[in-house]
Amino acid sequence: MGEVDPAFIQDPEHRPKPTMTHEAQDIPLIDLSAAAHDINSDSLSALVSDIGKACKQWGFFQVINHGVPEERRRRMETAAREFFGRSAEEKRKVKRDAVKVLGYYDAENTKNVRDWKEVFDFSVEEPTFVPKSLDADDEDVIQWKNQWPHYPPYLREACEEYAEEMVKLGLKIMELIGLSLGLAPKRFEHFFKDQTSFIRLNHYPPCPSPDLALGVGRHKDAGVLTILAQDHVGGLQVKQKSDGQWVRVRPIPDAYIINVGDIIQVWSNEAYESVEHRVMVNSEKERFSIPFFMNPSHYTMVEPLQELTSHQNPPKYKPYNWGKFFVTRKRSNFIKLDVENIQI
Ligand code: SIN
Ligand code: FE2
Repeated sequence: MGEVDPAFIQDPEHRPKPTMTHEAQDIPLIDLSAAAHDINSDSLSALVSDIGKACKQWGFFQVINHGVPEERRRRMETAAREFFGRSAEEKRKVKRDAVKVLGYYDAENTKNVRDWKEVFDFSVEEPTFVPKSLDADDEDVIQWKNQWPHYPPYLREACEEYAEEMVKLGLKIMELIGLSLGLAPKRFEHFFKDQTSFIRLNHYPPCPSPDLALGVGRHKDAGVLTILAQDHVGGLQVKQKSDGQWVRVRPIPDAYIINVGDIIQVWSNEAYESVEHRVMVNSEKERFSIPFFMNPSHYTMVEPLQELTSHQNPPKYKPYNWGKFFVTRKRSNFIKLDVENIQI
């Protein structure tokens, strides 16, 4: 069994089996250069069509020529390594709890099994609202406020600069996704005023039993879109829609991995679906990754967009309040509240 605490051990059917991964398959790679062009150019239409296909067939793709300066990513990655290299005592000074939901933590469960990782979360905006559940009990109040560690001293600046780039890239990709669905330009922009988007620094230490545990157990992302920077180690796997096989996502230097979240699934009335993924660990190498979770404002009512529903294609979901959904998840340590619960 190795030295792994039983809390980390996956049920046999969810353990990562090397034979279950398709080596030949890979998620689409998309060059975003054309996104800088004018809205009517042919290269832009080709890009929009590629994005649409990738969203439909995979729910996952990688992008290059995305416009994010390499130095900003490097600085963010270096700051993350330095932070995770500090003592446990030092890291716990910015520990998250049920009220302060942003900061450091090292114990998270996905589907009741503990993940082999430690994490630091920070929000890209700190809106003046206090997110509450709609029932507004006092105990539903959470503090959506960043906790910055003292070390490394440049971490906060690195995070803030990186966040700016993620917001820009996220809006660009949402614009392209909108066009691919036939929506008006900037259709999604207003949802991101007072956004609850946040960034997570992930550290997966080497694991003595990578055949029993996972860095992150299988799950779908609840928000709109995720933009992930992974290092050269690799470990992310995506469940292929066509045959349910786990496919490894190849690390490509300086590329970003994009995936559709549950909210796009609802907005598009399932034209695009969010896809299950998980993270494998390994016994020799530690791994770092940085997802940006793009989320709407807390007051957003999420529901299928009118333009994408009709008599023939009635809404498949009831409207739900994102703030309430999100707070409930945060407070329950992300015990998964599935969007399936909201299905009609
Ligand atoms: C996640 O899906 O939460 C993390 C992805 C990764 O680290 O590759
Ligand atoms: Fe995820």
